[in-house]
Amino acid sequence: MSDVAPSTSAANEALGTGDGFAVPRHVAIIMDGNGRWAAARGLPRVEGHRRGVEALRRTVRAARGLGISVLTIFSFSSENWSRPASEISDLLSLLRRFIRHDLVELHKSNVRVRIIGEREALDADIRLLLQEAEDLTRDNDGLTLVVAFNYGARQEIARAARRLAVEVANGRLSADEVTPELLDRHLDAPDIPDPDVIIRTSGEQRLSNFLLWQAAYSELVFVPINWPDFDRAALEGAIAEYRRRERRFGGLIAQTGS
Ligand code: FPP
Repeated sequence: MSDVAPSTSAANEALGTGDGFAVPRHVAIIMDGNGRWAAARGLPRVEGHRRGVEALRRTVRAARGLGISVLTIFSFSSENWSRPASEISDLLSLLRRFIRHDLVELHKSNVRVRIIGEREALDADIRLLLQEAEDLTRDNDGLTLVVAFNYGARQEIARAARRLAVEVANGRLSADEVTPELLDRHLDAPDIPDPDVIIRTSGEQRLSNFLLWQAAYSELVFVPINWPDFDRAALEGAIAEYRRRERRFGGLIAQTGS
């Protein structure tokens, strides 16, 4: 599904070209390095996460300005439950605060919020907040902000497989009808195009169970700064790196650059 969105003049100007290049349609980000940012300053880890939320606000604004259609952020992984209880509680509080405080602003900015991940096991108040965010912004057609929360890619693929298995068990589907396209349609947000580029901050170079299925043809860009320092210039730099890549999707035709 992945391809690139039409260029916007704002994005052309921001990235210093006037020649009609395309911005990626879908940018996904692994926001890493909050703890290291805090440690380097002798601050508690929660301060790194707080500053991470500010970086997130900047990045949403920048994504809107650049004409990106979909921004997916990895905000809490299925594996994050193994952190100390106090840090989990800090991260959950930040999510609550982010949705309570920023939702009106996001809605006013025509942002549509989507959530991917496992919701069943979450506290009822968080489930409700996530649902409210999706419901309130359902008809917005500006930037789509996909929040991966309690998300793990293997878990998402297993959920899709389970949904298919139920259909096979019910006799609505035969096993030999299961194709990659059909499994794709049973993922958490089947209407969202695959990410064109996945950015990871902090210098780590791995996907850590993020969008493994959808990343089949994504460009991976690793940025050597910690997430709290991420800003519009860093996003533009990552997009410029993406544009230097030649995307072939297993074929021969380059599709990224101008
Ligand atoms: C990685 O830093 C970041 C996270 C585990 C969570 C990302 C969360 C935010 C940016 C703030 C919360 C935002 C929402 C919307 C909930 P790390 O702690 O793994 O950093 P380290 O690898 O340097 O220790």
